Amino acid sequence: MKTVYVLNGPNLNLLGTREPATYGSQTLADIEASLRQQAAAMGVEVVFRQSNMEGELVTWIQEAGEAGAPVILNAGAYTHTSIALHDAIRGAKADVVEVHLSNTHAREDFRHHSFISPVARGVILGFGARSYALALHALFPSQ
Ligand code: DQA
Repeated sequence: MKTVYVLNGPNLNLLGTREPATYGSQTLADIEASLRQQAAAMGVEVVFRQSNMEGELVTWIQEAGEAGAPVILNAGAYTHTSIALHDAIRGAKADVVEVHLSNTHAREDFRHHSFISPVARGVILGFGARSYALALHALFPSQ
């Protein structure tokens, strides 16, 4: 069975109550449940994780790279700061789709730069929780 890693960075555990006007009212558990349902229908297994710690995300990216499994990555604020995540994706040759709930380019200047984008296969942002589903369909187009 094909596997996809869905990795979520800092503060995404607060979804549902965190700035709902920007991030929507769905919790991360809601997003996980809906993604698992769609992936199951496509015959894809989901490894779904969240961490507030940069190093843990680095380890999981390396794990996905070693497993040869693609990654849907919402790195949260680490998107804009983390050379460590950039290097992990490069070093592990991880196949990453960068996702964001919000359209980061329509927000503050400090959210306009991503250390993930140059090492990602593609980027999907601004579609709320649907950004994750769009990434899943982008990775497994014929399933
Ligand atoms: C985010 C956008 C980031 O700028 C922010 O720090 C987040 C969430 C998004 O999904 O829209 O934590 O990644």
